[in-house]
Amino acid sequence: MRKIWVYFAMAALVECYGEWSLDVNNASLHLLDVKKVCKKARQAKGHLWQICRKEQKILEEVNKGSLLATRECQYQFRHRKWNCTTQRKSLKRILLTDTRETAFVNAIVSAGITSSVTQGCTNGNLIHCTCDSKKKVISQAEDWEWGGCADNVQFGYRKSKQFLDSPHRKKDFRTLVLLHNYEAGRLAIKKYMRLECKCHGLSGSCSLRTCWHKMPPFREVGTRLRDHYDGSFKVIPGNDGKSIISEAKPHTKENLVYSENSPDFCIPSKKTGSLGTQGRSCNATSRGIDGCELLCCSRGHVTKVSKVETNCRCRFSWCCEVVCDTCVARSVRNFCK
Ligand SMILES: *[C@@H]1O[C@H](CO)[C@@H](O)[C@H](O)[C@H]1NC(C)=O
Ligand SMILES: *[C@@H]1O[C@H](CO)[C@@H](O)[C@H](O)[C@H]1NC(C)=O
Ligand SMILES: *[C@@H]1O[C@H](CO)[C@@H](O)[C@H](O)[C@H]1NC(C)=O
Repeated sequence: MRKIWVYFAMAALVECYGEWSLDVNNASLHLLDVKKVCKKARQAKGHLWQICRKEQKILEEVNKGSLLATRECQYQFRHRKWNCTTQRKSLKRILLTDTRETAFVNAIVSAGITSSVTQGCTNGNLIHCTCDSKKKVISQAEDWEWGGCADNVQFGYRKSKQFLDSPHRKKDFRTLVLLHNYEAGRLAIKKYMRLECKCHGLSGSCSLRTCWHKMPPFREVGTRLRDHYDGSFKVIPGNDGKSIISEAKPHTKENLVYSENSPDFCIPSKKTGSLGTQGRSCNATSRGIDGCELLCCSRGHVTKVSKVETNCRCRFSWCCEVVCDTCVARSVRNFCK
């Protein structure tokens, strides 16, 4: 019973958070401080100002997108030395530099906004947009029709661009890198739209199918961007002063680019924003990136054994209760020294 209540409370919290997102926006939990961006927009006017001042519902979706991006970033980097912390001072340093981590943060935020705004259209939360009704050209041979509510990714794409890109008028090298990664984030969704179909016809005979375009799940977007992070391209300014070029092999629009090398993130540093890995939980038997050896930077680890009580051997009792025993399990966890 207790457990069930905890879930209810959590669900209610998430509900409320969605409803009043801007009032309760706790910037210390977000990669993007939406309120701060809007404050700065006052001088800027233009598209961003428009969204901040006139398009409250879209702003709420932007805020949701920032949270979606933050959660996904922390999931993708949960076993890495840099774990996508939103600790203000650290994040500020990361965003002031131009490393692979900076690239990932900017790309995932841009993707998060694209995704949330698009989802807002599909869910009917926004008066500014509806389902995408454009029928894409298909070959005659297909045995299905366009129908249903297609995700309006064009709209989400445009709003993400207006919110993030439009304030950057001056196109210096750093800005070009930033805009490239914003675009890469949006493309990680836009280029991977999929077809979802539903069968109609007598008793599921599927004599008629209708299909629509749907965004890929955000987990997939996060994984794709993390792969791009792992294979990101170091760039330098082009001779024309208007382009960025890779030092090694050429990059595409979908790749992530950066210009500065990352710190090693092993020890805390005010200068780089590294929090160090002391106290991080690691896997003593893994030789990979989550293993204690690599994650703790060869400093060693401590093992903590604790007891966890769980409900077990649950059974129905006549009538109608569930009765459980309490079992004690040993939990062994390792933490970096
Ligand atoms: C925001 O969240 C942090 C971390 O959970 C917490 O310490 C802080 O008090 C919160 N701030 C507000 C204004 O709710
Ligand atoms: C990331 O690592 C820091 C420093 O070790 C730790 O304090 C923090 O709780 C971690 N954050 C997340 C989201 O895992
Ligand atoms: C630790 O790593 C081993 C080897 O890679 C893996 O089999 C195991 O599932 C991991 N344990 C946890 C708790 O992730």
